[in-house]
Formats: sequence, structure tokens, C-alpha cells
Amino acid sequence: MNIEHHKTLTNEQYLEDIWELLCRYDHAFIPPLSARENTYQSNLSGGSPTNVKPKKYFEMLKEQSFLVALVQDRVVGFMSYRPRYVCQDLEDGIETTYVTTIIVEEEQRGQGITTSFYKQIFALIDEHETVTTRTWSTNHDHIRVLMKLGFELVKTIDDSRGEGIDTVYFRKIVKGGPHS
Ligand SMILES: CC(C)(COP(=O)(O)OP(=O)(O)OC[C@H]1O[C@@H](n2cnc3c(N)ncnc32)[C@H](O)[C@@H]1OP(=O)(O)O)[C@@H](O)C(=O)NCCC(=O)NCCS
Repeated sequence: MNIEHHKTLTNEQYLEDIWELLCRYDHAFIPPLSARENTYQSNLSGGSPTNVKPKKYFEMLKEQSFLVALVQDRVVGFMSYRPRYVCQDLEDGIETTYVTTIIVEEEQRGQGITTSFYKQIFALIDEHETVTTRTWSTNHDHIRVLMKLGFELVKTIDDSRGEGIDTVYFRKIVKGGPHS
């Protein structure tokens, strides 16, 4: 398995693999990706019927930067991010590296692929810059990785994804500087 960084992703095969991952794991997300207009919308309540595909989400995703995990030249996992993004929900005006989506196919989970994605993002940015992401409060797999990597919870939006399911924002200030 190796990881590649693409500021702009143009490889048709990789894009096709990412589309398949989005379709396969659409309903692993709360709400499903197919119920979202884009990768960073604020209003996340509501769901979608299971036969709808996450096409709009994919169109927005394609404009972003990527880390892709490859096994025999096929994408088995990806992280997408926006390099200088201001999160409206955080109301702080700070430009951050904003991780929008991560999917690792089930067969490849628990091997540190997501941990490696984050470590590569830290190495790509300058010292004192921040990496920010958000997830839903019941996504324990993702939150465990974030806590291990030293992210801090910076905002909770109660019940925004359904009763008892909050939106949670996490941020890490990168201390080591680029390529450390
Ligand atoms: C959340 C998700 C992205 C995590 O991906 P992952 O690649 O399995 O994550 P990691 O392997 O880095 O970390 C998971 C566990 O593996 C462990 N791990 C890390 N390196 C490892 C290694 N070399 N060998 C074995 N296990 C390892 C981690 O410590 C962690 O263990 P823990 O359960 O004891 O905390 C994945 O479950 C997923 O795709 N979920 C569905 C979509 C989703 O929720 N995306 C995030 C919301 S945007």
C-alpha cells in the first residue's frame, strides 16, 4: 500500500474508484453523502432515500485536494481536503486545512491508513497552521483516531444530525513544521 498526494486529481481511474467508494459507503455517513449538497454544508439534518447516488457531493469533491491510498494502483481509501478554508460554523475567521471526507474500504480498516493520511497532511503544512475536521458524535472510529493524533474538540452543535447526534469539530495546531 502506498499513499499519493494530489493537489488536483485528474487520474480517471482514481476518480472512478473514489466514486465507487462514495456510493458503497454513502450510508455509513450521518446524514448520507447523497443527502448533502456539498462537502461542507452547515445544515446537516434530514436523510435521503437509499436509491439516490451522491453525485452532487462527488462534483464538489473533485475540486478538492486528495491523499489516496493505493493497492495495485486502485484506490482503497482517500482523504479530501481544502488547503485554506474558513469554517463558517466556527465563527473565528481562521484559515485552516480543512479535511472534508475520509473513506477507507472495510477490508483495509484498522491498519493505520487514516492515521497515515493525517500525518501526511501535518507534514504538508507550515508550523502553527491548523488542521480542522468535523464528524458526527457517534463516529467513534474517526474520533478515536483524532484523539490519538492530538486533535481537540473545538465546537459541538447539539442534535444537528438527529436526536442525540451532534456535529463535532476538531482542530490540531501543527507544531513540528513542514516535513517533520
Ligand atoms: C473512520 C475511518 C476513516 C478510519 O479509517 P482506518 O484507516 O481504519 O483508521 P486507522 O487504521 O488509522 O485507525 C483505526 C484503528 O487502527 C489502529 N491502527 C493504527 N495503525 C495500525 C497498524 N499499523 N496496524 C493495525 N492497527 C493500526 C488505530 O490505532 C486505530 O485503533 P484503535 O481502534 O485501537 O483506536 C474508517 O473507519 C471509515 O472509512 N469509516 C467510514 C467513513 C467515515 O466514517 N469517515 C470519517 C467521517 S468524514
